[in-house]
Amino acid sequence: MKVDNTLIQQAADIIKQGGLVAFPTETVYGLGADALNPTAVNKIFQTKGRPANNPVIVHIADESDLSKVAKNVPMMAKLLINNFWPGPLTLILEKTDQVPMETTGGLSTIAVRMPSHPVAQKLIRLAGTPIAAPSANTSGRPSPTNYQHVVDDLGNSVDLIIDGGPSEYGVESTVIDMTGETPIIYRPGSITLEQIEKLIGTTEYYVQDSLIEEIKSPGMAYKHYAPEAPLYLIDDNFDDLLSEYLSQGLKIGILATHENLAQYPEQTIVFDLGYRSSLSSIAQNIYAGLLDMDKKQVDIILSETFPKTGIGTAIMDRLERASQK
Ligand code: TXA
Ligand code: MG
Repeated sequence: MKVDNTLIQQAADIIKQGGLVAFPTETVYGLGADALNPTAVNKIFQTKGRPANNPVIVHIADESDLSKVAKNVPMMAKLLINNFWPGPLTLILEKTDQVPMETTGGLSTIAVRMPSHPVAQKLIRLAGTPIAAPSANTSGRPSPTNYQHVVDDLGNSVDLIIDGGPSEYGVESTVIDMTGETPIIYRPGSITLEQIEKLIGTTEYYVQDSLIEEIKSPGMAYKHYAPEAPLYLIDDNFDDLLSEYLSQGLKIGILATHENLAQYPEQTIVFDLGYRSSLSSIAQNIYAGLLDMDKKQVDIILSETFPKTGIGTAIMDRLERASQK
């Protein structure tokens, strides 16, 4: 989708002046502000209702800008950068003094990525500063993957929203901590563990032991991506559950794969996530499905489940967090 250059210039001016712009990236829409301006970054937190200790991701457009925000970049991180940037991979690195604590939620590390979306790249270049941007949604809600999602959720509280069409990947970037001996994935995304290990060897998923450890990646501690109605992930006995809920007179929403559409009763509200045989299309549609269920005001949402391999790991991570009580 072509975006008018004058609109991107206008957005860049807003960023320079300390305002907020929602803009498209290849993963989800971001809520952007000048990453080096603490007052501007604070507006992101206020607008989202995001806890101040939950750091945001900083976006750059050129590799030469990395040294502005991060230092002591390890060899393995450079390998990842060479292979996966621009794209949906966020690296945790040591931050420079230029980056205010507001941006990193008080941490001495920074999350940084270079988006591949041409509008995001142009916006960052024209703004002439790294752009801090979490997903452009109210904290806890599903992330927006198109312009209308942002309008519905944040509408009036943003200075400008750029429509760049639907997001290519549909789930947020993979977040990987490169500051320790072994790389640790805090958040699975479209760049998979398998792809990363092929390049840099042993990599682990973060497993939080809340009893003995402080939380390493604050965002992972919160309930996330949740629609208004309760969400249940159904592996088997789908039919039994359906007839039970139907007999209770509930308005039932179903996140279904295309292959299975025919099997759901007419009284249910079915959202077609795409073909199970193409998990990347499921990822593209997962947040749209959750948000659609809210629009249709269902009482309860049932979702099919997916294998936890490749991008399936990211899909299940989002569904499991969205279904947490
Ligand atoms: O795809 C994406 O990454 C999108 C688009 C807009 O780029 N952005 C995004 O940002 O998802 P956000 O703020 O919603 O998610 C940032 C995640 C949170 O889980 C946060 O805790 C973690 O990254 N994070 C940020 N800085 C960190 C740090 N220094 N150490 C550990 N985790 C960090
Ligand atoms: Mg988010």
